[in-house]
Amino acid sequence: MQSGQPIIILKENVERNYGKEAQRSNIAAAKAIAGAVKSTLGPRGMDKMLVDSTGDIVITNDGATILGEIAVQHPGAKMVIEVARTQDDEVGDGTTTAVVIVGALMEQAEVMLEQGIHPTVIAQGYRMGMEKSLEIVNGLSLKVEPTDRKTLFKIVDTSITGKSIESVKTKLDGIIVDAVMAVAEKTNGKINVNDDDVMIKKQKGKAMDDAELIRGIVIDKKRISEGMPKKVTKAKIALIATPLEITKTQVKAKIKITSAEQINAFSEQERNTLKKLADAIIASGANVLLCQKGIADPVQFYLAKNGIFAIEDIPESDMKYAARSLHANIVNKPDTLTAKDLGSADLVEEDTEGNITRISGCKNPKSITILLRGSSDYLLDELERAVNDGTRVVMDAMEDGTYVVGGGAVETELLMKIRDYASTVGGRVQLAIEAYASAFESIPRTLAENSGYNPIDKLVELKNAHSKGKKNAGLNVYNGKIVDMLTEGVLEPLRSKRQSIQSASETAIMLIRVDDMMVTQSKSPGPSGAPAAF
Ligand SMILES: Nc1ncnc2c1ncn2[C@@H]1O[C@H](COP(=O)(O)OP(=O)(O)O)[C@@H](O)[C@H]1O
Ligand SMILES: [Mg+2]
Repeated sequence: MQSGQPIIILKENVERNYGKEAQRSNIAAAKAIAGAVKSTLGPRGMDKMLVDSTGDIVITNDGATILGEIAVQHPGAKMVIEVARTQDDEVGDGTTTAVVIVGALMEQAEVMLEQGIHPTVIAQGYRMGMEKSLEIVNGLSLKVEPTDRKTLFKIVDTSITGKSIESVKTKLDGIIVDAVMAVAEKTNGKINVNDDDVMIKKQKGKAMDDAELIRGIVIDKKRISEGMPKKVTKAKIALIATPLEITKTQVKAKIKITSAEQINAFSEQERNTLKKLADAIIASGANVLLCQKGIADPVQFYLAKNGIFAIEDIPESDMKYAARSLHANIVNKPDTLTAKDLGSADLVEEDTEGNITRISGCKNPKSITILLRGSSDYLLDELERAVNDGTRVVMDAMEDGTYVVGGGAVETELLMKIRDYASTVGGRVQLAIEAYASAFESIPRTLAENSGYNPIDKLVELKNAHSKGKKNAGLNVYNGKIVDMLTEGVLEPLRSKRQSIQSASETAIMLIRVDDMMVTQSKSPGPSGAPAAF
């Protein structure tokens, strides 16, 4: 029975896009997101300056960071950003690559849709292309031993180039490889690395070149009182999570107590309570105290009198790291502290120059701190991002024992091999596989473009080299020559390439299959309601 009246099933505030319009909208969104990060790809890529609504500035070349900072509303754009996030979570590098590939896959899909190829055919071709690519890229991979410092060094170097930290790259490469090698564990013949074992600390002031690898813990605070020793050997370290003070003291908090008389400023009752806190620490046999909260002046005074080195207001993450490194227990009630809770280290020492304390010779040899230095917060943050990327790629390569060559070599090989494969398939799906192959052109093309070379010429040269069997031929972005990337030492973990192929393809496939988008609008669009403009 038809009444002739349309049946309304969606609420008024649902915006609906369907058919070609939905597809076009997702394609435009994916292209826009890829366009936003494209210019950062490769060692000669540019940086982006991002300013948030509070005026905070981030200057970076890191794809995941850029996409994490910009606010987008389009659901398709959000999915593309998700690709970068997944890549960052799983691998730690290759985020721009993954996003550029999704953009290219969607661009290719646009052409096919215009030619009237059905989305399910495109999706099928893309899936076949993806499976073939993963197979090919495995075949191109090379083996690396976890002790092969030279190769691991090059893998880190490739991942941290292009950030504004070029001058200290070689030094950082060494620090990163040594740090990861020191924390790597072999269980049942398999290498495992826990990235929580490597602590990264930043200190503003000195030059970038003063970055250091410290076998131990660094706490970026000084001892709280000059009366305490600056250096403690054979340290017995107490970790307390609660404040060592009376919350409602009548005495002004900021009196510095240096003599016994000044203690009299506190009431007798307060003095007793505070002395008990100090006594509990002293009784445990500790000669170092790390406190997550504040330490009242009288407590400081008693601790200093007993030769105890104490630091207050230590962040929780540092406390946890210290507990693990020192094999210590974090205690809440000082009066329950016993010798068993203490951690031990060979040396606790305040750094004469910086406001930092180093704890070395820890019980757990897997406590490694990378101390970064630089003149500004922006620089330190970018250094930290580089070290994070670098640490992750060595971990990936060590755990899997595999790597591939970079510089667009793998992508060129893929695009040629997949085209060959497409011709064995036939039918309309062949066109989709060919289009899938073409999407890989985006990587060598963008690398060439960002380095100031003609992308078409470089692509032709690359294809020529590969058709002559030069599997490792890639673009030297500094002189424009097509060279062997293995000899050049431009290396990346296999995991990174596999992940970028997989997540880019899967997202493109998902987006192509969408032909109906129903977006429920919130009643009052806030300031974030505006779509991002690139
Ligand atoms: N020295 C180099 N010569 C040529 N290509 C390089 C070099 N170093 C890195 N690359 C290439 O740059 C790309 C990675 O660029 P990058 O900006 O780090 O983006 P991503 O976020 O994808 O890691 C990879 O294709 C890599 O092979
Ligand atoms: Mg990178």
